[in-house]
Amino acid sequence: MQDNNTVVPRQVIRAEAETVTQPRSVEQIIAGQATSDGDGVKLTRVLTQPLQYRLDPFLMLDAFGADDPQDYIGGFPDHPHRGFETITYMLTGRMRHHDSAGNSGLLQNGGVQWMTAGRGVIHSELPEQEQGRMEGFQLWLNLAAKDKMSAPWYRDIQSEAIPEFTTPQGAKVRVIAGASHGVSGAMQRDVTAPLYLDLHLADGAEFSQAMAASMNAFVYVYRGELQIGEKAVPQQRMAILRNEPDSDGVTLRANGASRALLIAGQPLHEPIVQYGPFVMNTQAEIFQAINDYRAGKLAG
Ligand code: CO
Repeated sequence: MQDNNTVVPRQVIRAEAETVTQPRSVEQIIAGQATSDGDGVKLTRVLTQPLQYRLDPFLMLDAFGADDPQDYIGGFPDHPHRGFETITYMLTGRMRHHDSAGNSGLLQNGGVQWMTAGRGVIHSELPEQEQGRMEGFQLWLNLAAKDKMSAPWYRDIQSEAIPEFTTPQGAKVRVIAGASHGVSGAMQRDVTAPLYLDLHLADGAEFSQAMAASMNAFVYVYRGELQIGEKAVPQQRMAILRNEPDSDGVTLRANGASRALLIAGQPLHEPIVQYGPFVMNTQAEIFQAINDYRAGKLAG
């Protein structure tokens, strides 16, 4: 319903310097797991279930990238969600989503869909292309116990609506959520205060981001290689950033032209019980979700 292909000229955004004096180090480098989901879509699960408490409030990060339509054409037919938010960031390609409440939208080239499943939604996410490259990410962000049964909601954010700035050090920054260098992102969420940046760094460029030591944070390098303190983080690897109590942020340097996601959030410190597309706080709530789904109560 929100198809809007009008290109609005991008405003020039002036960024403020952000100083980090005690940068975090890398705790662990993760390769992720090759898997497939939906109707045979090949992807890499970068943030897997065993990391959910460590990276609370984030529950999952999938990276998909394929040139062969056989690896994505089936898409994700009708499936339910309850208890969290899905954030889909499409770098290249076109994906159409439909949900049980009658909403529909097109996600493409640099755009984001932010969906709050809340008490429940049934939706499909299907490629609207039969050839060419499809590349992007889906991040799952948990909801606090008090918000898990809230009304479902979503927003399509076209690429032009994502604030961008460039630093004198050669970093282009797309601020999807939270704030960076005084620039507010396209989305702000309370409770977990997620930060979601897409960084494009020229060879040798350095980028610093301030963040509270309490935030759980990670970097996923999807092009090139980044240096974080002593550690080199190669392409298609996630670096979990250590929560050093004295740290005030993170500093990254590009070894060659590089691109990466920097994601951080305030942990909820609540029990996490996941059964497939449902993420609740107790087993009883999971049984309830399954029963509600079978009874047709997630269909809006
Ligand atoms: Co979904």
